[in-house]
Amino acid sequence: MSRDRADLAVVRGDITAQDVDAVVNAANRGMRGGGGVDGAIHAAGGPAVLEDCRRRFPDGLATGRAGWTTAGDLPARWVIHVVGPDHRAGETDRSLLTSCYAGALAVADELGARSVAVPLVSAGTYGWPLEDAAAAAVDTLRSTPTEVREVRLVAYDARAEQALRAALG
Ligand code: AR6
Repeated sequence: MSRDRADLAVVRGDITAQDVDAVVNAANRGMRGGGGVDGAIHAAGGPAVLEDCRRRFPDGLATGRAGWTTAGDLPARWVIHVVGPDHRAGETDRSLLTSCYAGALAVADELGARSVAVPLVSAGTYGWPLEDAAAAAVDTLRSTPTEVREVRLVAYDARAEQALRAALG
């Protein structure tokens, strides 16, 4: 099947409220929940998300990789978990960040998801510089062949929205 590029849009809001086929989670290697986007997704998705994490990822997930679980009580059908590099801990290899986005689209294609909401992976707790985090997201999501039609880049605050809009050009 021939693959096109997804349409990208920036929206301001909470990723857990997005009515899309799949939401992307900024997880950690342990895959047992945490704060930020991860905490919000587990809180809103309910215990089914954690149960599926335990079942599908008994050994966690490596940095830069993507995998999926049920979305539990979220409006979305699936959560696509990615583990961004922890810039604060010295993980500064940008390919680990871009591979999160490329991997998320590959998983979305496996699932047949046509609309996906995406946060700014690594730009919170993991401390990746905001402008570069936004550029990595936009450049990768824009250039990766996929059957996903709509990618919603979800900005949680005004600074993130500004960075994403600047990256979108
Ligand atoms: N919806 C959309 N964006 C959000 C939300 C939300 N509900 N909450 C925060 N953001 P972070 P990371 C923004 O910290 O940097 C967790 O504890 C936030 O403002 O969620 O990849 C995990 O378990 C920032 O722009 O993810 C890991 O241990 C962006 O989402 C670690 O933090 C990402 O912030 C992952 O850190």
